[in-house]
Amino acid sequence: MKPDTFAVDQHQQISIGGVTLAHLAKKYGTPLYVLDYETIVHRIRDYQDALNELNPAGQAFYAGKAFLCQAMAGLLEQQHIGLDVVSGGELYTALQAGFNPDRIMFHGNVKTREEIAYALNAKVGHIVCDSMDELERIEEEAARLGCLAPVLLRITPGIEAHTHEFIRTGQFDSKFGFGLGDGLADRAVERALDLKHVMLKGFHAHIGSQILEEDPFILNAESLLRYSLGWNQRRGWWPEVLNIGGGFGVRYQPGDHPPRLTTVVSAINELLHGLTPQGLIAPRTFMEPGRSIIAEAGVTLYRVLVKKEVPGGKRYVAVDGGMGDNIRPALYQAEYRAVIDGKVDQADMETVTVAGRYCETGDVLMKDIALPVVAVEDLLVVFDTGAYNYSMASNYNRVPRPAVVLVHQGQDYLWVARESYQDLTRADNPYVMTADEYR
Ligand code: LLP
Repeated sequence: MKPDTFAVDQHQQISIGGVTLAHLAKKYGTPLYVLDYETIVHRIRDYQDALNELNPAGQAFYAGKAFLCQAMAGLLEQQHIGLDVVSGGELYTALQAGFNPDRIMFHGNVKTREEIAYALNAKVGHIVCDSMDELERIEEEAARLGCLAPVLLRITPGIEAHTHEFIRTGQFDSKFGFGLGDGLADRAVERALDLKHVMLKGFHAHIGSQILEEDPFILNAESLLRYSLGWNQRRGWWPEVLNIGGGFGVRYQPGDHPPRLTTVVSAINELLHGLTPQGLIAPRTFMEPGRSIIAEAGVTLYRVLVKKEVPGGKRYVAVDGGMGDNIRPALYQAEYRAVIDGKVDQADMETVTVAGRYCETGDVLMKDIALPVVAVEDLLVVFDTGAYNYSMASNYNRVPRPAVVLVHQGQDYLWVARESYQDLTRADNPYVMTADEYR
């Protein structure tokens, strides 16, 4: 879809957050990531309102892997949403921005000893444990630091969601978590309940990303609840928290119909009250949305620099960015929609393939899409690039990564500066340069 504040004036000039894209391109250069404040805040509130309907109230944790920088962490803190981090780097970014560690969920299928200690020292609210090796490592680090580690165990429930196989995680042969089917989850729970420095708070299961159905989420919640019931009978243990992960899809294409959050949440409410044994409090439901909060808030602006027709009649339009700032088409065959600033309603259309600037045949942003007849110097606006674009960007070909700008009520705020050539060489050691020095 488009950012909520997307508007087109009588000259077909596009603005977002009350700022024209032409102005942003001129001020900051291209390629440029633009994020709309209102869209982000609306999506956050949708989750908070829906989860508040639960009894006990649930909590949303934004998945920082979709997009994170210090300013974003600051905005999230202001909105009192939680934050899911998956590395020391994401944790550092959040803490630098003054994010409340209580609302941080520390994730990842491989956490180093240093990262575990960092999370424990920072007193993050929860650590999601992914393997037996890690469970022992958490126990050791918590013992060394003299604290109790609040742990959720990541369960692999055996739910196969219909999404690209690279972003599917809930099936039994996944690299993530403890399988329910193979007894690994049982061993992990037994062990966690016996460890002195681990406090088992509940379970987590994330089944995949860009899921467009409701049922897999409901099934996921149900399987975690039923699994908990078994433990209540066996050892009298009952979870405080069930975290059903992220994965809500967004509308990249007109045929994509995202799941309804309110439907999922009310089904979970019924499950919680139908299944929680008498005398016990239903666990709190946590969700970890990434894409569904930030994808639609973002657009990327590119300048068209080349237009060519190759033998066979195929028309290429080449822009000043590509797989370095958006790897998703090359990695997942992801499809995007775009328009041209100043030509939004133009009737004269053509079919073009939009190629990037990187030295890779696969660096194609959009294949055979219909655009108004394109000219060199046009400003191409690609939609829904807020999630997993900047966060997966690289310096391939030593191209500096673009800036990120937030727009709100007619103002623009630089969130992340464009990298310079100096940034590219910052970590290079310039003193080891000639072959002679190796003798
Ligand atoms: N929680 C966990 C444990 C996750 O692994 C993920 C995403 C999320 C939450 C957030 O999922 P979301 O709501 O954003 O779907 N790079 C891929 C997506 C990878 C998702 C990885 N995990 C892409 O560009 O499509």
